[in-house]
Amino acid sequence: MKTLKIAFTGTGHISRVHARAARCLADLEAVAVVNHRPQSMAEFGAQFSIERQYASVKALLADGGLDILCVSTPNYLHAPQAIAALEAGIHVLVEKPMALDAAEAEAMRRASDRSGAKLLVAHCWRFDEEVNWLKRQIDAGKLGKILRTKGYGVHVNWGPEGWFTQSRYAGGGALADMGVHAIDVARYLLGDPQPVSVYAKIVTQYTDYDVDDSGTIWINWEGGATSIVESGWWWPHADGPEASTQLYGTRGFGQLFPTRLELPDREAAEVATVDPGYPLAREEHCPQEMYDAQLAYFVSCIREDRQPIPGAAEGLVNMRIIDAALESSRIGEVVRI
Ligand SMILES: NC(=O)c1ccc[n+]([C@@H]2O[C@H](COP(=O)([O-])OP(=O)(O)OC[C@H]3O[C@@H](n4cnc5c(N)ncnc54)[C@H](O)[C@@H]3O)[C@@H](O)[C@H]2O)c1
Repeated sequence: MKTLKIAFTGTGHISRVHARAARCLADLEAVAVVNHRPQSMAEFGAQFSIERQYASVKALLADGGLDILCVSTPNYLHAPQAIAALEAGIHVLVEKPMALDAAEAEAMRRASDRSGAKLLVAHCWRFDEEVNWLKRQIDAGKLGKILRTKGYGVHVNWGPEGWFTQSRYAGGGALADMGVHAIDVARYLLGDPQPVSVYAKIVTQYTDYDVDDSGTIWINWEGGATSIVESGWWWPHADGPEASTQLYGTRGFGQLFPTRLELPDREAAEVATVDPGYPLAREEHCPQEMYDAQLAYFVSCIREDRQPIPGAAEGLVNMRIIDAALESSRIGEVVRI
C-alpha cells in the first residue's frame, strides 16, 4: 500500500494535535509544513521531524510531493489555502469553521467537485466515542422521534485571545468558534436534517472584542425538530461543556457530558436510567483519540474513494446556519434558509 504524504499549514495548537494523529498512522507520512513565521515553523518541524518548510501554501504546492493538506490556520485563510490545494488535486482536511461565510464554503465545495480531491471539514465531535454511543441509541429508536435539542458551545470564565477576537481574521467570535460545534453535534445526532429557519440573538456582552461573545440560536429543521444552541466566551456559567447536547424524544431523554438516557415508563410511573459508564468529567474534554479517529477516517475515505462525512456539504450547512443567525440577529426576525 502506498504511503500517503501529509503537510500542515499553521503550526499552532490544533495543528500539533493533527500532527500527533498523523504519527499514529503507519501508512501516513508527515512531509511538510507551512507558516509565514520561520521560528514557529522550525519548532514544529523539529517536534515532528518535518524537514520541508515553506512560507506559503503556494510555494508548497509548487514543490509538490504530497497527497493531503491539513489546514489549521486562522479562519480567513481556510478558503484560499484549501481551494489552492484542492485545485492542485490535493485532498484537504480543513478546520472548523469551514470558512468565513457560506459563499466561501460554496467556493470550496466547487473546487473539490471540479478536481475530485476530497474535502473533510473537521467537525471533530462526530468522531467522539460518547457522541457515537448516543447516536447509536437514537438510531436504534430508544428515544423515539427526537422533537427538540438543546446544546452548548461555551467557555466558562475564559475566552481566546489574538486573532480569534478580531473579525478580519476570525470572521466571527464565539458562534463561529464554539457554537459551530454545538450546531454540528445537534445536526449529526438528528441525522443531518436540512435547516428550515433560524432565529438568533448574537451579541458582544462580556468583552470589548469586535466579534460576538454570546449567542442564543433557535433552529427549525426539516422534519419538525427544533434546536436551541448557545455560544459563548467568558460566561460565568454553562449547563454543559463544549458540544454538550440534550435531546428530548417522544420516548425519552438523552444527553452528552454526562452521557446517559432517561426512559420514562408512564404506566409504572418510573424512569429507567441507561448509563454507559463514561466518567462524569473527562481528563481532557477534547481528547486526542477523537482527532486520531478523524484523521484515520479521512485517510480511509481517500484510500477507498469514499466521500468524507462531514465533508463540504455538512460544513456548508453549518456556515448557512451561522450566516442566517447573524442576519436574524441583525434584523430581529426569523430568517428562512
Ligand atoms: N476542532 C477543534 O477542536 C479545534 C480546536 C482549536 C482550533 N480549531 C480551529 O483550528 C484553527 C486554528 O486554531 P488554533 O487554535 O490552532 O490557532 P493558533 O493561533 O494556535 O494557530 C494558528 C496558526 O496559523 C499560523 N498562521 C497564520 N497565518 C498563516 C499563514 N499565512 N500561513 C500559514 N500559517 C499561518 C499561525 O502562525 C499559527 O501557527 C481555527 O480555525 C480554529 O477554529 C479547531
